[in-house]
Amino acid sequence: MTTLDPADLGPSRTYKLLSALVVPRPIAWLGTMSADGVPNLAPFSFFNVVSNDPPTVMVSITNRPDGRDKDSLTNLDHDPGATISLVSYPQFEQMWHSSLTHEPEVDEYAAAGLPTEPGDRVAALRVADAPAALEVTRTRRIEVGAYTLNLLRVLALHVRDDLIDERLHVDLAGLDAVGRLSTRFIRVDDIFEPPN
Ligand SMILES: Cc1cc2nc3c(=O)[nH]c(=O)nc-3n(C[C@H](O)[C@H](O)[C@H](O)COP(=O)(O)O)c2cc1C
Repeated sequence: MTTLDPADLGPSRTYKLLSALVVPRPIAWLGTMSADGVPNLAPFSFFNVVSNDPPTVMVSITNRPDGRDKDSLTNLDHDPGATISLVSYPQFEQMWHSSLTHEPEVDEYAAAGLPTEPGDRVAALRVADAPAALEVTRTRRIEVGAYTLNLLRVLALHVRDDLIDERLHVDLAGLDAVGRLSTRFIRVDDIFEPPN
């Protein structure tokens, strides 16, 4: 067993290891709205469920390499309402494209060629083709060193009709979610049952 101390590794190599070991991570395709009314979209894999009561998820955002806040964080500071579209394999390339750094005035949905759906409860837009999406509002902003942890309360869940039944069973194969593994990705396509 190799044992490593983050204090010896330093932040970059610790990131490399944590992002390779804590896998697969789901990807939140976070939609926010700027103060100037420009819709923004970016993927975040430091993302997970925190609680079902109150329904809460988290997204953790670091600064850009130049030290500036990412547009997603700037926008959440202005308007806490946001959307999280779940990334499905057919949208992988567009998700990847939307992770590129654009100036705040660029509509990243348009830049990625993505049709949008308006939020019901928030001003932010969601990805029209995503199989599922959440509408959320930020309830807490917590500084964790290099990252800002955002707790986001879930206001609404959207699931494509063919992917959910009346018993709330979700068709996971149909969802075709993509997860992040270090610098690579995995498709959720090898689903198995636990023993009885
Ligand atoms: C799959 C994937 C996952 C990412 N996860 C994160 C993350 O958890 N936190 C983060 O700060 N950046 C993450 N990024 C980088 C942001 O998406 C990227 O910095 C983006 O340009 C931010 O856009 P914005 O300035 O519009 O907010 C990720 C990128 C990709 C492709």
